[in-house]
Amino acid sequence: MLTNTATRYGALARFFHWAIALLILTDIALGLIGENTPRTAETAAGLTTLYSVHKTIGVAVLGLAVLRILWAITQPKPVPVHPERKAETLLAEVIHWMLYGAIVIMPLSGWVMHSAETGFAPILWPFGQDLPFVPKSEDVAHMAGAVHGLSALVIYLTVALHVAGALKHAVIEKDGVLSRMSRGTDAGVEGEAHASALPPVLAAVLWIAVVAFPFVMPAPERPDGTAAPMEQAQVEQAELASDLPSWTVDQGSLTISVKQMGAPVEGSFANWSAAIAYDEATGTGEVTVTIDTTSLTLGSVTQQAMGPEFFNTETYATATFEGEISRIEGASHQAVGTLTLVGQEVPVTLAFDLTIDGDTATMSGTSTLDRRDFGMGAGYADEGTVGFAVEVATTLTAVRQ
Ligand code: HEM
Ligand code: HEM
Repeated sequence: MLTNTATRYGALARFFHWAIALLILTDIALGLIGENTPRTAETAAGLTTLYSVHKTIGVAVLGLAVLRILWAITQPKPVPVHPERKAETLLAEVIHWMLYGAIVIMPLSGWVMHSAETGFAPILWPFGQDLPFVPKSEDVAHMAGAVHGLSALVIYLTVALHVAGALKHAVIEKDGVLSRMSRGTDAGVEGEAHASALPPVLAAVLWIAVVAFPFVMPAPERPDGTAAPMEQAQVEQAELASDLPSWTVDQGSLTISVKQMGAPVEGSFANWSAAIAYDEATGTGEVTVTIDTTSLTLGSVTQQAMGPEFFNTETYATATFEGEISRIEGASHQAVGTLTLVGQEVPVTLAFDLTIDGDTATMSGTSTLDRRDFGMGAGYADEGTVGFAVEVATTLTAVRQ
């Protein structure tokens, strides 16, 4: 029989139970393996696959959970088998409701984290990656990650108690509770009441506390004790020994894009400065850009990007570009010079458009670097995991002094 009765679970309820139990236990295992695998060049490809599978299974759980809940609403809930044991029945039912919460909160928090991040392992399906209404934001990703991690602890505890209880009934008491869920046999006496509305209310309160916890607790300080990059003092502007009119950057952005697993990952430096001298009449000038490499954010791979294999920000906290500006034609210009990054000096040409309106100059330019020129990511010898090309894009407005 598909449907439940007062004393047994129907086939559909049992299918949902075991399918979700299997998928959740698999996902917990994958999550734990992922969590305990060091992130290095050797493990990167494997980890990406692992997380892609983890996320795909999680999304499947969410879909099944919604169907399960809709189905459960239409069904009678089988009575407690030992209603006289008040505390035990209460505990078992609170845990059932906690588990119902878990099958929604766990995948949803994971998916919010995934949607707020850029890059990294995709969900293996064709229906889009990101939940609507979730902004791309480090803070949102961090919060959702905290909820995901804390909910994982709740799942460990509740599943452990739940399985221990099921085994106790099956092995010690042999009272038909497990076979009611496994084979769909009857157990319990029709007409017995459930332990009131207390279990769902308690479970809801506990879940609200768990989900709210990361929002209420102050975020821990960053390991190095520094403030978030955006709050850092601006890097000092270089001095240019030039007679040409100087320009002060008013606002701007410095972004980079690399391909990871073939998909672009965008990032930016929050803290940089540019000293610019430029003569409109001749279309010539000089520029020195100073970049605080520790202010990089690159989606979910920020830590790897700042690590010793790539930007190595602990040793090389600053990168500089010094170049000569020349006009090619109209708005089209180039800056030809040297980029000093991770201790390597490499000739670089930045092509950009420059328009001047009164005392305000607007420029936007791009340049494609090859990470191998800087010895970056030597452990990633091909483009399978991290592409060679790094697209750099700058936009700024500057004011004539
Ligand atoms: C059945 C649902 C799920 C379960 C039981 C689950 C469980 C876990 C566990 C146990 C971990 C490692 C522990 C931790 O990070 O503290 C983890 C990590 C992670 N999960 Fe899930 N997960 C689920 C669904 C999802 C979904 C749907 C996504 C994304 C679409 C996702 C994304 C992630 C990510 C990105 C991590 C790594 C977090 C980090 O290292 O900061 N999970 N998950
Ligand atoms: C191998 C591990 C598991 C075993 C042996 C097991 C066993 C059982 C049994 C025997 C019941 C019936 C209890 C009763 O009749 O009163 C039950 C119910 C339930 N189990 Fe599990 N379970 C397992 C894993 C899980 C997991 C991982 C979840 C997480 C979602 C879960 C969620 C539930 C829920 C929500 C119920 C309430 C019944 C319903 O309304 O569907 N179980 N389980």
